[in-house]
Amino acid sequence: MKDYFITDFSNPLFQAAFKEYFSELCINVKDWDGLFREMNEDEGTAAFLRTEENGSVIGFIQFQKSEMKHWFFSENIGFIREFWVSAKFRGQGHGTALLELAEKYFVENKVYKTILTTDTTPEFYVKRGYIRDYSYQAKNEDEVFVKLLK
Ligand SMILES: CC(C)(COP(=O)(O)OP(=O)(O)OC[C@H]1O[C@@H](n2cnc3c(N)ncnc32)[C@H](O)[C@@H]1OP(=O)(O)O)[C@@H](O)C(=O)NCCC(=O)NCCS
Repeated sequence: MKDYFITDFSNPLFQAAFKEYFSELCINVKDWDGLFREMNEDEGTAAFLRTEENGSVIGFIQFQKSEMKHWFFSENIGFIREFWVSAKFRGQGHGTALLELAEKYFVENKVYKTILTTDTTPEFYVKRGYIRDYSYQAKNEDEVFVKLLK
């Protein structure tokens, strides 16, 4: 197995995995190049991609380090954006390992809280220390989950 840290989303392996993920979700994209370009332009966005030794993709986790600002407080948060393990590799610990890689990356970069929305796998996150946080509202109107990393 190999884990790659990616900040350039023109990576063909990442693109192939991402397209498979969106086709599973039945999301049609007209302008793939535009979508991957936007990812590159979106500040602080990165991913870990896991492959088998032969190069076939196991899965990826894409995330973004950002800052939320209030007049008195500011908050560094680690947004888990997209997360997918190829169906034939599910249930073998790869998802947990990818999430841990992202969490470790955040702590190393002085981000001590992760945040995400999910309408597919809330139990997966709850088992891994995430809690529903009703104080946040998300654009997609899904429930918001957070985890304190430190
Ligand atoms: C969620 C996902 C990344 C987990 O990857 P994985 O490699 O199967 O994860 P792991 O093997 O580390 O853990 C599997 C655990 O998650 C649970 N799980 C996996 N998919 C689940 C689902 N769709 N609903 C509920 N639980 C799920 C398994 O029951 C297992 O439970 P356990 O903690 O008792 O072992 C993977 O199932 C996936 O890609 N799903 C489709 C895309 C998706 O929903 N992404 C998340 C968007 S927020």
